[in-house]
Amino acid sequence: VDGHLVAAIPGDGIGKEVLPAAQRVLDAVAVRHDFALSWCELPWSCSWYTEHGAMMPPDGIDRLRETDAIFLGAVGSPSVPDHISLWGLLIPIRRAFDQYVNIRPVRLLPGLASRLRECEAFDVAIVRENTEGEYSDVGGRFATPAGEVAVQESIFTRRGCERLLRYAFDLARQRGGALVSATKSNGIMHTMPFWDEVTAEVAASYPDVKWQRMHVDALTARFITHPEDLDVVVGSNLFGDILGNIAAAVSGSLGVAPSANLDPTGRNPSMFEPVHGSAPDIAGRGVANPIAQVWCGALMLDHLGREKAAADVLTAIETVTADPALRTRDLGGRATTKDVTSALVDALP
Ligand code: NAD
Ligand code: IPM
Repeated sequence: VDGHLVAAIPGDGIGKEVLPAAQRVLDAVAVRHDFALSWCELPWSCSWYTEHGAMMPPDGIDRLRETDAIFLGAVGSPSVPDHISLWGLLIPIRRAFDQYVNIRPVRLLPGLASRLRECEAFDVAIVRENTEGEYSDVGGRFATPAGEVAVQESIFTRRGCERLLRYAFDLARQRGGALVSATKSNGIMHTMPFWDEVTAEVAASYPDVKWQRMHVDALTARFITHPEDLDVVVGSNLFGDILGNIAAAVSGSLGVAPSANLDPTGRNPSMFEPVHGSAPDIAGRGVANPIAQVWCGALMLDHLGREKAAADVLTAIETVTADPALRTRDLGGRATTKDVTSALVDALP
């Protein structure tokens, strides 16, 4: 059978529960569509760190390079400082493979009510810059005569902004919708007027796309009061991250929010991981919502050219969310990870 080689990195906490759950659903849909997913299981995580002194082996990136895609749960444990675990696994993968687009689709799934506002429907794609910006590795902590100082440089390159904005405008054109660029040029930052300038330059090649800038502070409020007004929202690394979590909350829970880290050139494997983290507060109890991870699987199948299989996974998700008996705790229900996973498999068309 035709197939794809996928690296599976469960990581830590609920990653170890929701990733196998999603693999179960993806294997089931693959069989129905006559292809196979060949999983390369990689135990890289905080416990691997405790044993080996690193989050992944020195040839980790080379091994991932051989795969068609990377399917990741979540990284982070209270036993290892976040700057070690995240800068040792998650961030190096995004950067080594130039996954400069982080896309986070958010919409109100059938049956789910927005936590924050009554609204019928919304459907937003957040496009987050994923390799530079506020997440630069330039900076540090310094002793000065006036006391200790921590410095973080934000680095926005013209190339980095331009390619991300082009991706976002292309997407807005495809969706036939409008684009909002998250900015903060009313502050005293040097980076945001630059971001705005590049946005306007890129926008000039998309006369058919309606677009506007919004200050990110006002935009966070808009997400809560009128998410139905938004379509494609593009933002820098930090702004996009925060907006993604707000949007997830508005759509019901972090437990249903997927993301894809893409190298749109296709030269490198892309990585699919939920917006949520390892949730140490509920890990090991079998109550985590697997839907975000399963939706990530649908994004991955779509990326691998398995559009029909991806659509089937989404249909299954929509069938399950419509049933109040199949809600995990984060959505106000009592179903377990296993209940929801089995129901997803059964709901595949
Ligand atoms: P978190 O997303 O792990 O959890 C926030 C809250 O949401 C918690 O109350 C949690 O129980 C709940 N939640 C998250 N996912 C859920 C799910 N699928 N089902 C039900 N409830 C869910 O964020 P945090 O607590 O800030 O971070 C925990 C750890 O995860 C930290 O080490 C952090 O750095 C790491 N983290 C990793 C990633 C990643 O690997 N991509 C992303 C975010 C955070
Ligand atoms: C995410 C997370 C990461 C980020 C952290 C854990 C480094 O919030 O995947 O969105 O900010 O990129």
